[in-house]
Amino acid sequence: METFKKYNRFSKFYDGFESSMEKRKFGSWRSMVFKLIPEGSSVLEVGIGTGKNLPYYGEDVNVIGIDFSRGMLEKATEKAKAYPEKEVSLLQMDVTDLGFPDDYFEFVVSTFVFCTVPNPLAGLQEVKRVLKPGGKAIFLEHMRSSSTFNNLFLYAMSGMTIPLIGTSMVRKTKQNIQQSGFHVVEENNLFSDIVKLLICTK
Ligand SMILES: C[S@@+](CC[C@H](N)C(=O)[O-])C[C@H]1O[C@@H](n2cnc3c(N)ncnc32)[C@H](O)[C@@H]1O
Repeated sequence: METFKKYNRFSKFYDGFESSMEKRKFGSWRSMVFKLIPEGSSVLEVGIGTGKNLPYYGEDVNVIGIDFSRGMLEKATEKAKAYPEKEVSLLQMDVTDLGFPDDYFEFVVSTFVFCTVPNPLAGLQEVKRVLKPGGKAIFLEHMRSSSTFNNLFLYAMSGMTIPLIGTSMVRKTKQNIQQSGFHVVEENNLFSDIVKLLICTK
């Protein structure tokens, strides 16, 4: 089954499925991302999913959120109603074919997306294309570890996550980001070397 269809199917359960991790870890990691975005900025969030980052955006940030799953976007649309003061537009779009001009956004954000995008290099190249020179791409992503021991668990988890939601736990996402031509200007390991916050320029 194609990945967007898996997300359409799973969208009803997605927030519940992640709720304990959200409380224990994800929420604080998300806050770290959005502290990096000043008021007044233009932001593209790719793979916005059910809109879990919406509470963390400042009121004067102009956000366009895209996702290729209609089901996930419907959940994000419901969530956005709780924040009428925030400027958020949600669009159904594939990150590998972004309908925006070159050099358009000051910030592009992805949180736990490039583990799932079926063609991650094509998606990252599109992110780079629409990012303004001098802008920042901020990636909060999980990826393959340098530890074989950790990777045994990650491979085992992929056995469940790939059929369910198309998510690989062992993607080489940092290498993919670099291969797409980004410069990693700051790297923070948030959970061993599996979850990283990467701040990048083009
Ligand atoms: C693991 S979820 C993460 C959602 C959200 N960013 C979060 O932090 O909760 C991955 C999201 O990426 C979206 N996605 C995957 N590949 C995509 C693509 N090629 N274009 C647009 N969205 C994509 C999925 O539909 C899903 O909503």
